[in-house]
Amino acid sequence: MAKRIITTDLTEEDKKIEGSLRPHTFNEYIGQEKAKETLKVYIEAAKNRGEVLDHVLFFGPPGLGKTTLAGIIANEMGAKIKITTGPAIEKPIDMAAILTKLNPGDILFVDEIHRLNRQVEELLYPAMEDFALDIMFDKGLAASSKRIELPKFTLIGATTRAGMLSEPLRDRFGVVSRLEYYTTKELKSIILRSAMVLSVEIDDGGAEELAKRSRGTPRLANRLLKRVRDYAQVKYDNVITKDVADHALDILEVDSLGLDHTDRKILNCMINTFEGRPVGIEAIATTIGEDPGTIEEVYEPYLVQIGLILRTQRGRVAGREAYRHLGLPVPESVL
Ligand SMILES: Nc1ncnc2c1ncn2[C@@H]1O[C@H](COP(=O)(O)OP(=O)(O)OP(=O)(O)O)[C@@H](O)[C@H]1O
Ligand SMILES: [Mg+2]
Repeated sequence: MAKRIITTDLTEEDKKIEGSLRPHTFNEYIGQEKAKETLKVYIEAAKNRGEVLDHVLFFGPPGLGKTTLAGIIANEMGAKIKITTGPAIEKPIDMAAILTKLNPGDILFVDEIHRLNRQVEELLYPAMEDFALDIMFDKGLAASSKRIELPKFTLIGATTRAGMLSEPLRDRFGVVSRLEYYTTKELKSIILRSAMVLSVEIDDGGAEELAKRSRGTPRLANRLLKRVRDYAQVKYDNVITKDVADHALDILEVDSLGLDHTDRKILNCMINTFEGRPVGIEAIATTIGEDPGTIEEVYEPYLVQIGLILRTQRGRVAGREAYRHLGLPVPESVL
């Protein structure tokens, strides 16, 4: 798949600015009010009792602020954070090494936690529940196990695929928090804050326009801000106004709803090729020459989120908004 400017996955380009733009406190972290309120209560309670925070699981699409929140929690708890990812921990012994090196009160952040393998995951159960490791010695008749005490720690897991997490693992998290796509208003605040940090001049209209095209995702909002700033530097007097944003984003082929060429191809295929009838992912994929998994995981979620694609029992259909967005007449029969 060609790299899309509107991908919400982390790119090399993002890494350069994420360090300086990442909020460090709840006050700087805009939106996700529900998640924030819950976490604040749990953090306060843990601190009052002088105990470690319950294990926390974050799930939701890429770029919505899961890693950022883990950092904020560590900050608010005054705790050290050790960061790793599911696929990096290949064997139980690797996980055991990480766990036994923790100090009391530390936070262990495991990104892509759905990609932990079975044996590593099983090692985590007693670690999370009893702060202990059960190490097996030998096999067969001579087998014995020894329990090793671990320091009390907090595990923070993050995943974009909550459905792929096993029940027993999921059940061991005391706090499970789902992150939501951001509203245009929230994204606008994020863009104005980022512009200040990066010393970019932007007016209200410019921020609003960028926000509308950022697919509900702060990571993308920041990337578009950076791209449009570069454009404003070369072509205009450094100031991002609505007109500058409009123009730059049109050139980047990010339309008024944040859709790109492939998003529009998908909608066109559903409306024109399949004449608006319910259709499956496979059929769309074959027609436009894309991989079905990519359509389902990368393109479709946001199109569903903003109501351009409706998922019905008989298949996917394009909603009224999709016809309007493409400038097509809306047939009577459309939902
Ligand atoms: N609520 C927020 N307020 C301000 N900026 C935010 C917020 N959430 C995220 N960001 C910005 O968006 C960027 C991406 O966020 P983050 O890396 O935490 O996403 P993520 O959910 O961990 O993504 P992934 O699933 O790809 O790991 C951060 O660097 C940060 O600058
Ligand atoms: Mg992350």
